[in-house]
Amino acid sequence: MAMTEGDKKYSGSLNHAMIDGPEGHAAQEYANHFGEPGFDDITKVYIAQKYSGYTAENQESWQTLYDRQMEYLATHASNVYLSGARSINLVREHIPYLEGPKSVNNYLAKLTGWQSRAVPGYLPAKTFFACLARREFPTTVVIRPKESLDYLPEPDIFHDIFGHVPLHADPVFADFLQTYGKAALLTNDPYHTERLARLFWFTVEFGLIREGGEIKLYGSGLISSPGESKHALFSDKVERRPFDLDTVCNTSFEIDHYQPILYVLESFGQLRDAMNSYATRLIDAAGKVPAHA
Ligand SMILES: [Fe+2]
Repeated sequence: MAMTEGDKKYSGSLNHAMIDGPEGHAAQEYANHFGEPGFDDITKVYIAQKYSGYTAENQESWQTLYDRQMEYLATHASNVYLSGARSINLVREHIPYLEGPKSVNNYLAKLTGWQSRAVPGYLPAKTFFACLARREFPTTVVIRPKESLDYLPEPDIFHDIFGHVPLHADPVFADFLQTYGKAALLTNDPYHTERLARLFWFTVEFGLIREGGEIKLYGSGLISSPGESKHALFSDKVERRPFDLDTVCNTSFEIDHYQPILYVLESFGQLRDAMNSYATRLIDAAGKVPAHA
């Protein structure tokens, strides 16, 4: 969904040439209706990256963001994130390619089979889950304007690729995220939908993990945020709780300020196993109650 001028909460403009036009509008329309009769082909929500549409200023924004954040992450991010970033060839020199021999997708295909697919804007929840269930990550291709490098109230390619995608190179996290997508797609119970949204928030977006006795960052909202990445690790206003699936699912969150509660994993295996057992519970529940009862 494109923002109108009146909705703007940040300085500068997104490069709308990257997502506007008939292809972008058709994909967004399809995404909005996905799941309704006649709208069952998820590939129709994807668009091309149109790489030549990036401006020199867009590339400069990427380099600035990459440089200042990667230096910090080298000592504060999970090793799984850092090794994933290396293995998908995430570099400062250019905004990542989604297609072609040097694309993140070319590397990911060999590692875990995950792919990043360009989308024109926000996807409804079920559409988003349908993508994850196929090991496809809906990816915003625009990048924040240089006037708003510190904060953008919506995802951009720095958040989506730099923040999320390196973990998709890890086989354990890769399995977790697909299982999450399948489970979230399956359930129509608002109780579980809310719990699953909380799980996503406190892990994929804002998760911490203990490695070698130290707490490290892995959630994309922390990885891609210079301000919150430091706050998450060092502020005495943050309560860092041990990860427990039911506790996480019972914790509500707010989106418009730094997070006061974060959860710390002991390993990604812990997250995968917890998700597998939750998914089994949801599958059992779905088997007992017909979907349209
Ligand atoms: Fe995200």
